[in-house]
Amino acid sequence: MPAFAQVSVSVDTGKPGPVINKNVYGQFAEHLGTGIYGGLWVGQNSSIPNTRGWRNDVVGALKELKVPLVRWPGGCFADEYHWRDGIGARNKRPVKVNTHWGGVAEDNAVGTHEFFDLVEILGTEAYINGNLGSGTPQEMAEWLEYMTSDTKSSLAELRRKNGRKAPYKVAYFGIGNEAWGCGGNMKPEYYANLYNHYATFLKTPPDARPKMVASGGNDNDTRWTEVLSKEAARGTDGISFHYYTLPTGVWEKKGAATGFPESEWFSTMQQTLRMDQHIKQNVAILDKNDPEKKIGFYVDEWGTWYDVEPGTNPGFLFQRNTLRDAVVAALNFNIFHAHAERVRMTNIAQMVNVLQAMIITDKEKMLLTPTYHAYQMYIPFQDATSLPVAVDNDVAYSSNGKGVPGISATAARAKDGKVYIALVNTHPTRASDVTLNVAGLTVGGVAGQVLTADAMDAHNTFEKPQAIKPAPFSARAQDGKLTIKVPAKAVMVFAVEA
Ligand code: AHR
Repeated sequence: MPAFAQVSVSVDTGKPGPVINKNVYGQFAEHLGTGIYGGLWVGQNSSIPNTRGWRNDVVGALKELKVPLVRWPGGCFADEYHWRDGIGARNKRPVKVNTHWGGVAEDNAVGTHEFFDLVEILGTEAYINGNLGSGTPQEMAEWLEYMTSDTKSSLAELRRKNGRKAPYKVAYFGIGNEAWGCGGNMKPEYYANLYNHYATFLKTPPDARPKMVASGGNDNDTRWTEVLSKEAARGTDGISFHYYTLPTGVWEKKGAATGFPESEWFSTMQQTLRMDQHIKQNVAILDKNDPEKKIGFYVDEWGTWYDVEPGTNPGFLFQRNTLRDAVVAALNFNIFHAHAERVRMTNIAQMVNVLQAMIITDKEKMLLTPTYHAYQMYIPFQDATSLPVAVDNDVAYSSNGKGVPGISATAARAKDGKVYIALVNTHPTRASDVTLNVAGLTVGGVAGQVLTADAMDAHNTFEKPQAIKPAPFSARAQDGKLTIKVPAKAVMVFAVEA
């Protein structure tokens, strides 16, 4: 194996592609473990500094990420959530058991008004997931009316009585979640009927209609996209899809978040790159059934899922987050950009303390994960115009007779007018020399950031919260040729300079 791979990356600025919807960088916050309670919400009386109950440190860090969209209240939790439990005086709200996640008490301290307060503090948009599994069409319709109505209806008046005069803006509304599993163990045809049934009664003022999301398939299962794009197409803005990256690909023994062998670094790369194939298969079905491209393909749950951290509640899905997670995130961003025409929204699972989190907290302490840094580095790609990229002479990263691309690349013209390029090196020990050609621009150099570390499982801890973070990077062209040294196991994002 060569110590360096010589790769060439070409970008064509003269052939702009579709816009990368900023909501591709959406987040997901479920009532699960400490994803909300403790991680984001501490209540107004907490000694942890907070704004109306939302912790200032976490919210401050999330603001830096320019989070465009947050999905709430689940996941599986959504199909057991009854919105009326979460309005009115907090001390009078019912206490339930979170049967999906850890069997802990759910006191409904965070409900509709609290969530929208967070949305407004973050300056983000709301993706509300309704309860189809154990709710009724009436309950779902009334929640949407409660949130969006500007009339004198009793529900709108109740919202006002509970402290919110103006309607809330619901950007997306999900009709159920994982209907094939925790959302009701249904078949796609049955769910399609229910979707149409529920959607019939979801009424909002015309200018306040959210994008309606039909709950789709997962993994290799394309039947949901096939059925829903035919049977539930009217009034559907997007079909959702879930795909998680498990190092081993086996749910019973997924693999550890830290201390893993190189074979599991490799298999994680392989598994996560399957996202591309999943999207292609589903988009082919959409192109057949929806040639006008009205329906988006929303990957509203994705990310790494490891064995839970030993000693933690298995129902809390807490895992460490390492350099490997940042590389996984960046590979998925590059895939989403390549499918920007249909992939108009995604939500990583999840924002704080759960699965592939941006932020980890422990009581008053907080740290930023490598995944957080990947999201921050990719901010210029939000609402940028994608540009075609070709990677040539790449040397695959191979193991056990199988291979994955060594270098993954993406490019776009951002809203600031500059061309940004991201490069990801999947190889854990081999650096690459990347020669950059940008058609339509005279390239003097590049400047940006690089995220890498010595260890595959490099991660931040409360003792060393800055152990892994992006470093500045720049390179200048020489004799008209620009070569970028891409370290092993690295994510790079840079702007092209004259
Ligand atoms: O993100 C955790 C869980 O994974 C979600 O609640 C569910 O939709 C999925 O199975």
